[in-house]
Amino acid sequence: MSHDLLGPDGWTPVNHGESGAAVFRSADGARYAKSGPAAELAAERDRIDWLATQGFPGQRTLDWQITDDGARLVTSAVEGVPADQMSRAQLEQAWPSIAGAVRRLHDLPGCPFSRDLGQMFALATDVVARDAVTPDFLPEDQIATPPAELLARLAPELDLRHKQEAERSVVCHGDLTLPNIILDPETLTVSGFVDLGRLGLADPHADLALLFATAGEIWPEPGGDLFGFEVDPDRIRFYLHLDALTWG
Ligand SMILES: Nc1ncnc2c1ncn2[C@@H]1O[C@H](COP(=O)(O)OP(=O)(O)OP(=O)(O)O)[C@@H](O)[C@H]1O
Ligand SMILES: [Mg+2]
Repeated sequence: MSHDLLGPDGWTPVNHGESGAAVFRSADGARYAKSGPAAELAAERDRIDWLATQGFPGQRTLDWQITDDGARLVTSAVEGVPADQMSRAQLEQAWPSIAGAVRRLHDLPGCPFSRDLGQMFALATDVVARDAVTPDFLPEDQIATPPAELLARLAPELDLRHKQEAERSVVCHGDLTLPNIILDPETLTVSGFVDLGRLGLADPHADLALLFATAGEIWPEPGGDLFGFEVDPDRIRFYLHLDALTWG
């Protein structure tokens, strides 16, 4: 590796991050550092600290610094392998544990953070207005459609989705993709979740939409009835399409 690929203090860049944040792993693998906008990282730090108080296994905040171009958050490593790096057979075997961990999160009695539909739709509206949608995050059959049109297609469902959200909101991870679920490769059980910047109260379909979409790339039929409620495919589709418009 050439020297200029090394991060601060010789930390190694982690390549599979999805946001604008830069993520580095310490030489001994025990710590991760994330650099980016201070407000976003402060939100992530507060959620990590809160989830730790709930007895949930996962990252712990080790250090927090304001830097010249934002902030730097250092957390303890969750030991294991991100779930997107597993084979289909391994993912199938890990699935009950993944579902169990998601249910434990969703069953927490509440949390001080929200990522409700109002916020997410406002975020998507802003990203679309700035013409900042990341095409890579769009479902393949939507890449050719103008993002404003994609957003307009979701708007007629808003009343219904708000009503459903009011009926049941739970503590959601907020970016429940396979790379953010760390598995113990020996036992194929969940070691912990990472990337908690969007954790907050929301319709549980918002989490399952991302989980099923990313798992579906490895194993075409994830899902099942392990999640403790009847999954509504229309809501899965709605939240998947909305999420794709919120990154930018
Ligand atoms: N504390 C940690 N323990 C184990 N793995 C980690 C840890 N922090 C980050 N990782 C690994 O690095 C990857 C990227 O980190 P992270 O998900 O926080 O950044 P990101 O995807 O860029 O964030 P964003 O949600 O803003 O897109 C994770 O998917 C995970 O594989
Ligand atoms: Mg991530």
